[in-house]
Amino acid sequence: MVGFSFSANKKILFGWGETLSLVPLLKDQKGRVFFITGKSVKKNPLWKSLELELRREGIKADFEEISGEPSPEDVDSLCEQYRSSPPAVVVALGGGSVLDAGKAVSAMLRETGSVMEYLEGVGTKKPSGAKIPFFALPTTAGTGSECTKNAVLSRPGIKGFKKSLRHDNYIPDLALIDPQWLESLPREVIASCGMDAFSQLLESYISTEASPLSDALAEEGLTEFLEAFGVVLEGNAGKDEFSSIALGATLSGLTLANAGLGTVHGIAGVLGGLIEIPHGTACGLLLPPVMNGTFQELLKLDEDHPTLQKAAGLGQFLSGRMDLKTEESIQILMEELDRWTTLAALPGLKTLGLTEELLVRTAMESGNKNNPYSFSEEERLSFLRSVY
Ligand SMILES: [Fe+2]
Repeated sequence: MVGFSFSANKKILFGWGETLSLVPLLKDQKGRVFFITGKSVKKNPLWKSLELELRREGIKADFEEISGEPSPEDVDSLCEQYRSSPPAVVVALGGGSVLDAGKAVSAMLRETGSVMEYLEGVGTKKPSGAKIPFFALPTTAGTGSECTKNAVLSRPGIKGFKKSLRHDNYIPDLALIDPQWLESLPREVIASCGMDAFSQLLESYISTEASPLSDALAEEGLTEFLEAFGVVLEGNAGKDEFSSIALGATLSGLTLANAGLGTVHGIAGVLGGLIEIPHGTACGLLLPPVMNGTFQELLKLDEDHPTLQKAAGLGQFLSGRMDLKTEESIQILMEELDRWTTLAALPGLKTLGLTEELLVRTAMESGNKNNPYSFSEEERLSFLRSVY
């Protein structure tokens, strides 16, 4: 067996209604708390209960809001305000963008200068890894940022980018996942975020860097999703289904942080830097054509390729049939992905503002990351055209 390494949070707390468990943990920190949240979170009754409990326990806190995907300027301006008297702990409560903002702020409060200087592919400095303790509470089931070592910052537009601030130490010290937050999310947000999480699970599962440990977690996350996500998209989800996709999303963070991703994210990341497209929508659109292309190319090369066995295993899980040929089982998996994209009713790339010129540029600037089959620029362009 090949060796591997695996990084994870110091503590992961998961459970329906667990949000209030945050309060005693904050009390232990003995100092001011810096909360970063999204706007919509504050309308949720869960937030009201949390605020009440914080007040009752006499926890001193500052509150800031982030709307949309965080830019380097958002991070710099928050750090400027708080660098002279830094908090004891940074808590981010919200979707993936809020968590990424919190992660970047907790790190940059311990560095000097702008976050731009530390971004991969943009700056020239390497982050030291020093940070203020950071707690992440996701309110969507999507990016898995509560378990990853990077914060994605973006500046969309023709000269835009979407880049990561990354260090092993940036994995949040605490990930506290309460699936109850999902109950009040609009359906299109659940759909888009879920597509991101499922893409992350599947891409890390078939990644060239996958390990026995990442595979075990990916398999658990994938089967949770295969059982629950269709029900969620149909609008019939209850506590069990919301819990399943919340767990799947968290596991996707752990698996992507350790096994990496593939061509879906290799293209989605570039798209997100050029136009304002929700990350999950980009993943959801690209997932069926890229996965189908990957499986078809590998079938031509070697019918016993481990990736095909993994994909066939998922088809067997869905159908409950072990007697099917590899190709037939993969077909069942692909049919389920197609059903999801139809239910999610994602808009095409043209509707989302991608011009012909940017389409070509996306294909050129994107890559395959750890995909088990490397697609050419022309092939990536054909995937993009198929969802234009
Ligand atoms: Fe993603």
